Amino acid sequence: MTTIIVPGRVNLIGDHTDYVGGLAMPCAIDLGITAEVEPSDGIDLTTDATAEHGSFTLPLGELPDDSPTWIRLVHTTARLAPNMHGATGRFTTTLPIGAGLSSSAACTIALALALGAPDDKRELVLLAQAIEQQATGVPCGVLDQLAIVFGEAGHALIVDAAAVEARPTHICDGVGIVVVPSGSHRALSETPYAERRAQAEQAVREMGGLAGAALTDALSIPEPVLRRRARHVITENARVLAMATAFTSNDARAAGQLLLESHASLKNDAEVSTKGLDQLVDALSSRPGVFGARLTGAGFGGSVVVLTEGDAAHDIAQTFGGRVVSPSAGARVL
Ligand code: GLA
Repeated sequence: MTTIIVPGRVNLIGDHTDYVGGLAMPCAIDLGITAEVEPSDGIDLTTDATAEHGSFTLPLGELPDDSPTWIRLVHTTARLAPNMHGATGRFTTTLPIGAGLSSSAACTIALALALGAPDDKRELVLLAQAIEQQATGVPCGVLDQLAIVFGEAGHALIVDAAAVEARPTHICDGVGIVVVPSGSHRALSETPYAERRAQAEQAVREMGGLAGAALTDALSIPEPVLRRRARHVITENARVLAMATAFTSNDARAAGQLLLESHASLKNDAEVSTKGLDQLVDALSSRPGVFGARLTGAGFGGSVVVLTEGDAAHDIAQTFGGRVVSPSAGARVL
């Protein structure tokens, strides 16, 4: 029996940037999927996350159109994973589904590792992205997969989506990270995520590409929606770099301020927030011990990430029904 551990991720800053080749700063977290599998002729997998049972014979037949997401992920992974083999076993999870903590990317990576993933981490990231795009129809970027595969205990990562790279970066000493669910769970395929991506891509084309583009380029786009999308990408990228500087100099106040600015940009320029997320960020940011908060991940529901004083983290989590998370190691096969 092989045990595969795959964490979820929380994105500290840098959302709706990855699909145009921008920057982000996520970390893998201590909530995730544990897969206990052994090689077999067919695929016979169960999960405690849904009632569904992913059972297939090899070679695979057609997948009915109305198949649930877990089954689609199993089937698509089995089709796309190189050196594919069968597996029997069980997936258990501590990751809430649809809460903005990358449960589907974690599931895909665990499946790929169970069914024949490439050894190279970067190839695994790209494979997992392709599987998720095909299985769910959501044109996701590489942020989640990079965070999950390259996670390092005690560190955040600076993700460069254009280069498909992630490198560890220091997190401020003495802070806590809390994730608070907004209570609004969603499948990304049911949100305007794809539309936001298409608009941001168009906005970046109007600036002549992201590399070297400046705020003045964004502001000179005549069409107001595209101008806002461009301004979000340019300012959010700058905030990721500013966050890395704030963390390196242990300036938690500056880091918290950046989280609030990021939320405002996701609300007003990217337009991916909800009333519930805005109210949560307002309520959290007025609490003693909180440096800042913002929606994390795709938005449209999901969760808020909060940067707190280390001592305040558990109280804040308890008051708001969230949980304290620790930056953790990436996906691994034990
Ligand atoms: C989802 C996608 C990522 C990224 C975020 C928003 O998590 O899977 O690729 O686009 O939304 O930053």
